[in-house]
Amino acid sequence: MRDFQFYTPTQVVFGRDSEQQTGQLVRQSGGTKALLLYGGGSVVRSGLLGRVSASLRDAGVACVELGGVVPNPRLSKVQEGIALCRREGVDFLVAVGGGSVIDSAKAIGCGLVYDGDVWDFFERKAIVTHSVPMGCVLTLAATGSEMSDSCVITNEENGKKRGLGSNLFRPRFAVMNPELTFTLPPYQTAAGCTDILSHTMERYFSGEEEVEPTDYIAEGVLRTVIEMAPRALKNPEDYDARAAILWAGSLSHNGLTGCGRGGNGRIGDWACHQLEHELSGMFDVTHGAGLAAVFGAWARYVLPCAPKRFARFARNVMCVKEPDDGKAALAGIEAFEAFLRFIGMPTNLRELGLTLTDAQLDELAWRCSFEGTRNIGSIRVLERADMREIYRLAQ
Ligand code: NZQ
Ligand code: ZN
Repeated sequence: MRDFQFYTPTQVVFGRDSEQQTGQLVRQSGGTKALLLYGGGSVVRSGLLGRVSASLRDAGVACVELGGVVPNPRLSKVQEGIALCRREGVDFLVAVGGGSVIDSAKAIGCGLVYDGDVWDFFERKAIVTHSVPMGCVLTLAATGSEMSDSCVITNEENGKKRGLGSNLFRPRFAVMNPELTFTLPPYQTAAGCTDILSHTMERYFSGEEEVEPTDYIAEGVLRTVIEMAPRALKNPEDYDARAAILWAGSLSHNGLTGCGRGGNGRIGDWACHQLEHELSGMFDVTHGAGLAAVFGAWARYVLPCAPKRFARFARNVMCVKEPDDGKAALAGIEAFEAFLRFIGMPTNLRELGLTLTDAQLDELAWRCSFEGTRNIGSIRVLERADMREIYRLAQ
C-alpha cells in the first residue's frame, strides 16, 4: 500500500426532506447572502428551487438566483455568475442540481476572488488559492462532485473541456435526498450510474496491487451500482435503490476508493475520462454515455498489461467463474459491456451517435494529448498514437 492523504470535509445530510435544512447549513457555514444556482429548469418544475429558497429565507439568508447552466457547463455562464455575485455582494454559493451546476458553482467560487479571467485556472496559468465557500443540493447521482475536489468546465469558444482539482472545491455541505432523483429520465439514470462505476474503476485499474481494504471497498461500490441500476430503471421511485446509487456516487469520487493507490485519492488511470472529455468537448455528448462508448476499446487495448487485475475484476465484480486469468479477464469485459447495454448505454461510438472521419480521429487524439504534450493512463501509458487507435477501435 502506498502513502496517501484522505481529506473529505463535506458535511453530508442524507435522507427525505433534507433540502429543508439548506438554509441552516448555509448559516452555520457563515453565509449571509447566497447565490442559488440551477440548470435548465428541472428544479423549478419539481418545486425544489422554491423549497430551498424558502429554507434560506427562513434561516435569514438573503439570496439571488441564476439559472440556465447546461450539461457540459459553459465558461460564459460561469463568467455571468461571477459578475452577478460581484454586483450583489454574494458570500456563499448554493448549487441546486447535478454535476454541471455544482461544477459551475465551484468555478464561480474561485473566479469571484480572482482579478483575471477564471479560465486561467483551467489553462494552468494560475493556481486556486482562495474560493468562496459553497454547498449543494444534489439532484443527480453521477459525478460525485458533491464531495469531490474536481471541477470540469467547457470553453465554448474553442471546444476545450478541462478539469481542475483543488481541496478548496470540496463543498461545505451536500444535501442528498434520494427522492429528488425519482424524476431522472432513464438515460440520465443510466449515464449517471456509468459515471459512478467509472470513477471507481479508474482508480481500481491504477496498476497498484496490495491495497486490499480499498480494493474490497471498490468492489462493493461497483457491485452495489450494478445491482441497483436495473432496480432504479425498473421502478424510478424505488427509494432504497436510489439511495444506494446516490451514496455510491459520493463514495466513488470522494477519494475513498483511491486510498493507498498513492497521492490524494485521485491517483488512477483516468484514460477513459480523458478520452471522453474530448468527445464531450467536441460533440457535446453526455459524459456517462461517452465513458460507456470508449470503455470496451480501452479495456481490450490495455488488457495485455494487466491480465491479473482484469481477471480479479471479472471474478469479484462481474461474478465470472473461470479459472484461467486470460479467459476470465475477457469474459469480465464482455459481461460489463452486456450490463451497459442492459441499462441502455452505448458500447461504441456509433451507438453514441458518432461516425467519425479520419480527420476527426486525428483531431480527438491531438486534443486529448494536449496538442502532443502529454500522455495519459497509468495501467498502460498511452501516447497520442495509442489514443487515436482507441478512438478508432471504439467506432
Ligand atoms: O438542467 P436541468 O433542467 O436541471 O436538467 C438536468 C440536465 O439536463 C437533468 N437533471 C438533473 N437532475 C434531474 C434532472 N432531470 C430530472 N430530474 C432530476 N432530478 O439532467 C441533465 C444532466 O445534468 P448534469 O448536471 O449535466 O449531469 P451530471 O451530474 O452527470 O454532470 C455532468 C458534468 O459533470 C462533469 C461531466 O464531465 C459533465 O460536465 N464531471 C464532473 C466531475 C466532478 N466535478 O468531480 C467528475 C466527472 O468525472 C465529470 O467529468
Ligand atoms: Zn466522470
